[in-house]
Amino acid sequence: MAAFDALAADYDVTFSETILGGVLRARVHERLAHGLPVGGRVLELNCGTGVDAVWLARRGHSVLATDVSPAMVAHAALAARRAGAAIEARIDTAVLALEDLSVLSGTERPFDAALSNFGGLNCVADVTAVLADLAALVRPGGRAWLCIMGPLVPWEWVWFAGRGDWSSARRRLRRNPRWRGLPLQYPTVRSVRRAARATGWAPVRVDGLAALVPPPFAESFAGRHPRLVAGLDRLERRLAHTAPVVWTADHYLIELVHR
Ligand SMILES: C[S@@+](CC[C@H](N)C(=O)[O-])C[C@H]1O[C@@H](n2cnc3c(N)ncnc32)[C@H](O)[C@@H]1O
Repeated sequence: MAAFDALAADYDVTFSETILGGVLRARVHERLAHGLPVGGRVLELNCGTGVDAVWLARRGHSVLATDVSPAMVAHAALAARRAGAAIEARIDTAVLALEDLSVLSGTERPFDAALSNFGGLNCVADVTAVLADLAALVRPGGRAWLCIMGPLVPWEWVWFAGRGDWSSARRRLRRNPRWRGLPLQYPTVRSVRRAARATGWAPVRVDGLAALVPPPFAESFAGRHPRLVAGLDRLERRLAHTAPVVWTADHYLIELVHR
């Protein structure tokens, strides 16, 4: 996965350690902290540089952190090592594509939960197939949190159109969207809910992330207006599960229970 391999070295500086990256990840962590069983075993999909794996391990969970990009997985393993021996002992890493999850069936005991954070699922053609494979890996009653980039983002239209960048403004509305040559899709909440129900999952909650809060591309705005961003974050937390926020968010976080 050359596109993501090339991104790995700078990923934390350009996303995880930014103001907006931090705001959005904190919102995901709040939902995880609320729903994860104590000391559970978590399958992390598209783990990137391992920020969530380390966070989960610090909370006492054991994690199998997977990603299609060998460079991302190498960074995740390094992050685990840097977090200290006790944390590293709770994190295993593996190069594994979302499309190949079925190779874990039979080799792994069931997981208590799964996490796909920040857009990995936008890179697969068939979300239903991934959810079906995941259902075979997570125990009944176990949960999955999927954080997916949404299709309609007014913040993005205004931000890029205001700069005369019409191509970026309508990038999610294209028939065959691509990023660095990689085909992407922006599934609606409704289509993911339908795919979940068809594969043995019950959707229990959806939160919009960055409908009012600026999305990560607007980091320069966040740097200039930290108090405004904090206020928008407070407001968005109250409205996160309402339809207008869910439908117009940069990402949405859908929580599923395996029936
Ligand atoms: C935006 S990053 C998110 C990384 C991490 N989850 C986080 O929260 O920072 C998207 C990740 O998805 C991974 N990815 C993309 N396509 C994938 C696929 N088909 N299978 C597994 N991982 C994939 C990329 O390598 C990248 O690490």
